[in-house]
Amino acid sequence: MCGIVGYIGKKNTKQILLDGLKELEYRGYDSAGIAVLEDGEFSNFKAVGKLVNLEEKTKDFKTKSFAIGIGHTRWATHGKPTEINAHPHLGESSYVVHNGIIENYATLKKELQTSGVTFLSQTDTEVIVHQFEKNQKNAKNSFEAFAKTVSQLHGAYAILLITKTEPETIFFAKHGSPMLVGINGENEKYFASSDTPLIGHCQSVNYFEDGDYGYVTPKEIAIFDKNGVKKEAKFSPLSQNKLLAQKDGFRFFMEKEIYEQSVVMSDTMMGRLGESEILFDELDKNLFDGINEIKLCACGTSYHSAMSASYLLERYSKIRTSLEIASEFRYREPIMSKDTLFVVISQSGETADTLETLKMAKTAGLKTLVICNVDNSSMVRLADATILTRAGIEKGVASTKAFATQVTVFWMLSLFIAKLKNSLSADEIASHISLLRELPSHVKVTDDMHERIKRLSKRYLHGHGFFFIGRDIFYPLALEGALKLKEISYLHAEGYPAGEMKHGPIALADPELFTIALLPKHLHYEKSKSNVEELSARDSTICAISQIEFDKADDFIEISECRHYMLEFFEMMVVLQLLSLEISVRLGNDVDMPRNLAKSVTVE
Ligand code: AGP
Repeated sequence: MCGIVGYIGKKNTKQILLDGLKELEYRGYDSAGIAVLEDGEFSNFKAVGKLVNLEEKTKDFKTKSFAIGIGHTRWATHGKPTEINAHPHLGESSYVVHNGIIENYATLKKELQTSGVTFLSQTDTEVIVHQFEKNQKNAKNSFEAFAKTVSQLHGAYAILLITKTEPETIFFAKHGSPMLVGINGENEKYFASSDTPLIGHCQSVNYFEDGDYGYVTPKEIAIFDKNGVKKEAKFSPLSQNKLLAQKDGFRFFMEKEIYEQSVVMSDTMMGRLGESEILFDELDKNLFDGINEIKLCACGTSYHSAMSASYLLERYSKIRTSLEIASEFRYREPIMSKDTLFVVISQSGETADTLETLKMAKTAGLKTLVICNVDNSSMVRLADATILTRAGIEKGVASTKAFATQVTVFWMLSLFIAKLKNSLSADEIASHISLLRELPSHVKVTDDMHERIKRLSKRYLHGHGFFFIGRDIFYPLALEGALKLKEISYLHAEGYPAGEMKHGPIALADPELFTIALLPKHLHYEKSKSNVEELSARDSTICAISQIEFDKADDFIEISECRHYMLEFFEMMVVLQLLSLEISVRLGNDVDMPRNLAKSVTVE
């Protein structure tokens, strides 16, 4: 995920910006840059890859006295991770850095291009600086131009902008992406998109609220709310614990990533939801010409999202879909026909088995698509087409937000293909889109829910095993729930299709066998319920997850009211993630780095 820093003061501006960006490295990035304004002159440096490359480029640059500067680490979402796409972006005499996504960038860009503006990058961010400079021409002052620009942007953003006409000022805006300003006793001002760069420099910080915008100079911090009303900054002491700050105060990265899902899923959808169609600008519509089958191939959690996708693609896109575990596929001499679109799914884009299957598909002349979280990864470079999941870096070995965003992409993809194939009407697609818009609120973790799961977890620390059961698309979710639990708790857990239990596994049922039952109200409820009753009759200990109270369960976790099974899917996903987390915490395990596992499996 991208990071932002900013500085106003007399110290070594370059070093402060670079040090700040270093503190944001843990968030992941693929390029970085800074812009400094001193004595009316800009200096700008950008580099692809790690910060050492930027350090190398700036090694001969030093500010002499007072300067203002902004810096950025970029995680590519619109456009490749190249130097041109790296921030800060230049207009004629201003620079901007931005986190988030400008949803209406295509419209603004078209208007600006029509009025003669030339764009250098493929990013959504560049529209901000050009729009600002266009507004400057008719505004009383730069702040008025900036305020107007902010009012023209739709989407999520944290923005810092500097311009030659105001050489002591940094303009800022925040909506949906974090941003704070810090002060100390030395008449300096620091900006950042999270606490860590400010630790050691500032004693107190003001966290901007959504809708805030304004400007900061050495002497003034002017903040306006979303209605344009001036407000006071609210400073609070800055905690000096860096590790805690990196985790945004959460105990583990996994926990932080579970809580982040609502935001990153919004990012995944941003700019991709039309009125009654899905907009994947990155996909050539011809990609699906002559395609009669989709083959999905992945490992681990990504395989579970592929399996979830197989239900959505057949149900909504009416296209034959098959599934492959990458490590199996590569050695079983599969038949590959050219009317198949070969889709690999990978958080990292580097998993050796999955990468190998992609190479096999390319060699066989198949069209290929990768659903991936890391631009410029090996798979992204190799595949014919890419959809980025925009989850930001995932640090916890146990994948959470990557899974959530992959399934979100697949839900959208099934609607995208449904439109091409006419398998759903415009009204049906529109009603799915309104469900997608509801998604972020369904994956928000509430204190009540987390507390309940924390309390319940103490009853699930022993026993001789867990069965996670579900039907239909809740079967891959059950598999994913079981994988999460075994990865970080080291307890034995299996996912099973609920209807299969009576074909063997039910023999294991006794009070020491824990069944985690997924009971969605809107998909095969009665069928799943009777499978759980069979287990309950054999005295298995049951924890039911549903929006309908279930009296045959020993424990019941109630999800909130959902009007569609896919909303139930994502609500239950959060419950399963939290349950694994809390069981593992009670068992004293290292949740973020479980034994024997690596985040990216780049060997066979
Ligand atoms: C899931 O929690 C694991 N980290 C693992 O199963 C992972 O999903 C698998 O190794 C595939 O990784 P990828 O998505 O980066 O290809």
